[in-house]
Amino acid sequence: MLMKNNLLAIEDINKEEVRYLLKGAKKLAQAKSVPLFLNGKTVANLFFENSTRTRSSFEIATRKLGGSVLNFTATTSSVQKGESLIDTARNIEAMQPSCIVVRHASAGSPKVLADAVNIPVVNAGDGFHEHPTQALLDVFTIEEKLGSVLKKKILIIGDIAHSRVARSDIHLLKKLGAQVSVCGPPTLLPPEPESLGVSYSYRLEDFLNMADVIVALRIQLERQNKMQIPTLNEYAKFWGINAERAKLIKKGAIILHPGPINRGVELQSEVADGPLSVILDQVANGVLVRMSALAALCMPKEYEEWVKYG
Ligand code: CP
Repeated sequence: MLMKNNLLAIEDINKEEVRYLLKGAKKLAQAKSVPLFLNGKTVANLFFENSTRTRSSFEIATRKLGGSVLNFTATTSSVQKGESLIDTARNIEAMQPSCIVVRHASAGSPKVLADAVNIPVVNAGDGFHEHPTQALLDVFTIEEKLGSVLKKKILIIGDIAHSRVARSDIHLLKKLGAQVSVCGPPTLLPPEPESLGVSYSYRLEDFLNMADVIVALRIQLERQNKMQIPTLNEYAKFWGINAERAKLIKKGAIILHPGPINRGVELQSEVADGPLSVILDQVANGVLVRMSALAALCMPKEYEEWVKYG
């Protein structure tokens, strides 16, 4: 069972809680019929930033569990008239949803919101901070393709400094015993990358032929004060994966990307759509992992029972 009533950060949960959520997701994938854990319940999706995958998969996850969805979009809401995050959340809570899923550009805002309401809150991505369900679906996908992440060599490429996916992935992969390396231009790595507990290089070729798993990150143009790389072409030349560079990748390795892809920058299309790519499997697995998180938070006892004995 989850120890807390929220899922705000991978940093906050322990290995057993992670394994519980992943086991539940696997069981949901294999179940002939899934219990309607959210029957009669509503999940409120509060998105203050754009999303395709996360928002859609939370919505599908909710519906598959028998629940209904309230979709709140900041750009068409009273936030535009100056209503605060907390007032927004309290007003949504007054309509009695069972859970709030929130994405926000400010790191820490899901925690602020969770402190202000009395229902579970799931972080769907907050600024540079974390994107916990993305990390869970990444690990679920790696283990589905390659077995346990324990001792696997994982290479994360790109905008480590601005990426909440990188932070959540690193926390989760290290928690589960994987060996994590990061690579990218010096301006897109944090000042002391080793403080994250990872090895690092500015040269892709140093790690490319050793990694079991390659996670290519999106260049987070919207989170940089100014371009921290000379040009996107330059980035593609040194840190992007094209067909030629893909020949250096270890046999059996897989490539992940959280999406959306800047095609021709992080990945050339022949790689993004090629045989090593598991990017669409990640998207499919996002529904399962989010079903697991929602059921664990909204119906903790019933879900635990089902995961154990059902
Ligand atoms: N991976 C991810 O967070 O994608 P979206 O921004 O489309 O939700």
